[in-house]
Amino acid sequence: PIKIATIGGGSSYTPELVEGFIKRYDELPIQELWLVDIEEGKEKLEIVGNLAKRMFKKANLPVEVHLTFDRRKALKDADFVTTQFRVGLLDARAKDERIPLKYGVLGQETNGPGGLFKGLRTIPIILEIVSEMQELCPNAWLVNFTNPAGMVTEAVFRHSDFRRVVGLCNVPIGMEMGIAKLLDVEHSRVRIDFAGLNHMVYGLDIYVDGESVKDKVIELMTNPNNTNFVKNIEGQEWEPAFIRSLNALPCPYHNFYYKRPETLKKTMESAEKEGTRAEVVQRLEKELFELYKNENLNIKPPQLQERGGAYYSDAAVRLITSIYNDRGDIQPVNTMNNGAIASIANDSAVEVSCIITKDGPKPIAVGDIPIAARGLVQQIKSFERIASEAAVEGSYDKAVLALTINPLVSSDKAAKQIVDEMLEAHKDYLPKF
Ligand code: NAD
Ligand code: G6P
Ligand code: MN
Ligand code: MN
Repeated sequence: PIKIATIGGGSSYTPELVEGFIKRYDELPIQELWLVDIEEGKEKLEIVGNLAKRMFKKANLPVEVHLTFDRRKALKDADFVTTQFRVGLLDARAKDERIPLKYGVLGQETNGPGGLFKGLRTIPIILEIVSEMQELCPNAWLVNFTNPAGMVTEAVFRHSDFRRVVGLCNVPIGMEMGIAKLLDVEHSRVRIDFAGLNHMVYGLDIYVDGESVKDKVIELMTNPNNTNFVKNIEGQEWEPAFIRSLNALPCPYHNFYYKRPETLKKTMESAEKEGTRAEVVQRLEKELFELYKNENLNIKPPQLQERGGAYYSDAAVRLITSIYNDRGDIQPVNTMNNGAIASIANDSAVEVSCIITKDGPKPIAVGDIPIAARGLVQQIKSFERIASEAAVEGSYDKAVLALTINPLVSSDKAAKQIVDEMLEAHKDYLPKF
């Protein structure tokens, strides 16, 4: 009997996850799904939990759904633990996105100051969860979706001795699906060799039925209509000379680094017009929960595709299914480097294509990332490492250091001011500072 525990169970993404479990029930017959949340998320947990129950019932599957605030009870003897919690909810994210803009600095929940502060709030809780897992379900795998997924995975590797963790993002699967659509072929025929870090990942080669189509795909990436890979980021019009000579596929988040002024301008304009992404998502979330409340609803509503994390269920459940069945297929995930990328430390987290086995992901060695991308990737890795030390130690100095070396911030003085203002804004959720 397979027991799954999902922390942050009140998330509007839960119906995605449930849909994934329903679709793959034959290969992954789960018996118990424990949705864990906190007092603050009570109403969301109940609404989402009831929808999950209706979805399993409609699919005629004997899956018990348990709703709880007791994390230890949920973790006890679990086989897989997934995390999708947001410390401070979307109000905290709105601050992460608004405050930096006052200083002319870009950010998001994994990038720049927003990424730093989401990490500072999240890492202490993830470390509590893995230590409880070592006690209550030492053989379970942790599939972490909570952002900043790369930094969080790094923190587990560096600040705990728990190793059964996989960090997961929907960007690589979104890129594969997007390219399959552009080339008008089935998703299963497309493979991309991914290498880099979370939200800093590159497609080093792209194949259809094992044959490289990289040159053709790179040419397509110069048209912004072809690069709409995730809902929360607009398509990019990559400069042909740039992308041809980079000779790799950038991910949607590279717009922060390779198109900084343009992205900053657009972000400021839309923050003014319709609110920051967090504020837009707050409205979308309201709408979703109104739908979820309807007793007649027993499937995942299509409106959920408007969230940036669409296809999360496919990514998470196909990963769990492959671990459970020792499948040996290839999936892009965040795991320990172990030599897969030569210029990154062996014991750091990287996002790479991996062979998925019962002993977890085995990264496929790529040699190295192209020289044009190597420095930026290393800089972001240094940011993630120092930020996770700041989180664990509650170190103000390291928080300022992390932000100063972040490529989106161009001055130590600005970094200090942003850290000061954000520490104050988030003080309820930063007990270590
Ligand atoms: P959300 O704001 O709905 O929060 C999810 C739930 O977490 C809420 O019900 C909340 O009450 C709960 N929560 C908060 N603190 C908790 C704690 N300490 N323990 C247990 N539960 C807690 O969030 P969302 O918009 O649904 O996103 C969920 C998470 O998924 C976020 O962390 C987000 O960054 C992440 N995400 C990741 C990706 C990716 O590519 N990796 C994509 C999309 C979203
Ligand atoms: C993206 C990413 C996530 C990101 C999210 C935002 O696709 O992979 O890591 O944070 O979606 O989505 P949202 O709808 O909350 O803006
Ligand atoms: Mn992501
Ligand atoms: Mn800098």
